[in-house]
Amino acid sequence: MNTAHICLSVLFLFAFASTLPGAVRAHIAEFDEVWQRRAEEAWNRTLESYEPAPAKIVSHLNLNVHRALKEVKEEELSLNSTRRQLSHGYDGPCRVTNPIDRCWRCQANWAQNRFRLADCVLGFGYKAKGGKNGKIYVVTDPSDNDMVNPKPGTLRHAVIQKEPLWIIFQRDMLIRLSQELIVQSDKTIDGRGARVLIANGAGITLQFVKNVIIHGIKIYNISPGQGGMIRDAVDHYGLRTRSDGDGISIFGSQDIWIDHVSMLNCADGLIDVIMGSTGVTVSNSHFTDHNEAMLFGASDSHTQDVKMQVTVAFNHFGKRMVQRMPRARYGYIHVVNNDYTHWNMYAVGGSKNPIIISQGNRYIAPPTNPYAKEVTKREYSPESVWKSWVWRSEGDIFQGGAFFVQSGDPTYTSKHPEKYDLIQAAPAQNVAEITKFAGALGCKVGVPC
Ligand SMILES: *[C@@H]1O[C@H](CO)[C@@H](O)[C@H](O)[C@H]1NC(C)=O
Ligand SMILES: *[C@@H]1O[C@H](CO)[C@@H](O)[C@H](O)[C@H]1NC(C)=O
Repeated sequence: MNTAHICLSVLFLFAFASTLPGAVRAHIAEFDEVWQRRAEEAWNRTLESYEPAPAKIVSHLNLNVHRALKEVKEEELSLNSTRRQLSHGYDGPCRVTNPIDRCWRCQANWAQNRFRLADCVLGFGYKAKGGKNGKIYVVTDPSDNDMVNPKPGTLRHAVIQKEPLWIIFQRDMLIRLSQELIVQSDKTIDGRGARVLIANGAGITLQFVKNVIIHGIKIYNISPGQGGMIRDAVDHYGLRTRSDGDGISIFGSQDIWIDHVSMLNCADGLIDVIMGSTGVTVSNSHFTDHNEAMLFGASDSHTQDVKMQVTVAFNHFGKRMVQRMPRARYGYIHVVNNDYTHWNMYAVGGSKNPIIISQGNRYIAPPTNPYAKEVTKREYSPESVWKSWVWRSEGDIFQGGAFFVQSGDPTYTSKHPEKYDLIQAAPAQNVAEITKFAGALGCKVGVPC
């Protein structure tokens, strides 16, 4: 690249940084024209993906949970008790009460019909289809040695392709990423049928991309990548600075679904949703052993996060979790039917006026820490300011002295019945059942999962 070009890039970088503040921290050492175009296209997609009536998405999810619970109940009533004792789990009708799982897990042929999963997402990530109708790419090689010319058969070679791909794994494998794994749009990473561990190395980066599903893998012991030349697409690579050590970083991206992922112990966050990302669902996942779990909106200056819409549903926040489940700035966050069995500071927090709709969760406060009974935490604002933030709790249950400090308009969800359809979330009493299989599943080919 000649000097004039570099100067132009630098000029653009400043111009760009003023419209999308914070983009300079993108770990892109050289913000070349490819990244410039990606960033611009991504912001347009964020504006497009953003739901002007988020209540519709909220009601639709809640309606589906009610429907699933009702169907299971009816099926159980119509079976007689002898049959029920004989049928072991899935021999009879589907007993799965979780509406996302119910859509695919009861099918014995799930391995022949993997695309079915893409029809099952609920919540703000509902447009995520991943690699549906694309080719199946089978990862056969767990190595990750060449960052610029990754070997065919590796996960890195799969994710840099530009066409839609449904990525599966030939066998159980542990993949130690030498650097952050930079994923292109229109991909599904589907760990079903194998035990896939991404561990002891760098994490996954979704930067200025759309339409990605990550399902059925375990991600743990993630540390920062040192940076260097990394290929991010078949036709592009560039210099990256050190990565943060997040498990999954969703950066300026749209229509993303994280489902049945187990995560623990990452150097930075488990899942970050930042820089104007929107249309995200995190569901059915199991989180343990981590301090700062999920950061939604990384800085007060990233005002593009007002467009952020995230659903956090049917997850289990388990042992040795501390805080940020999530911590939000700006945006609209639906936190529904999750099981919070452990935290040591707080569960749900934020600053800068995020809308947080907490429905049908179970919050169990730590028994031995009298200072951590409050589910919520507001930062950097006096009560005179945060009292207008819409943080509502509906149908949550509280144990061990847990309590949720609400704020904002108490009639926020009830005053627009036409928008919320008067549908309450499924009762929190069902949460243990709904989240029973959170985390990566051990699916076997040929039988329901
Ligand atoms: C983004 O949208 C604007 C307004 O519709 C349009 O003028 C511009 O060309 C778009 N940019 C890209 C990179 O698609
Ligand atoms: C109830 O059990 C009996 C004996 O096992 C069986 O013949 C009958 O079909 C069952 N009824 C239903 C509705 O499943």
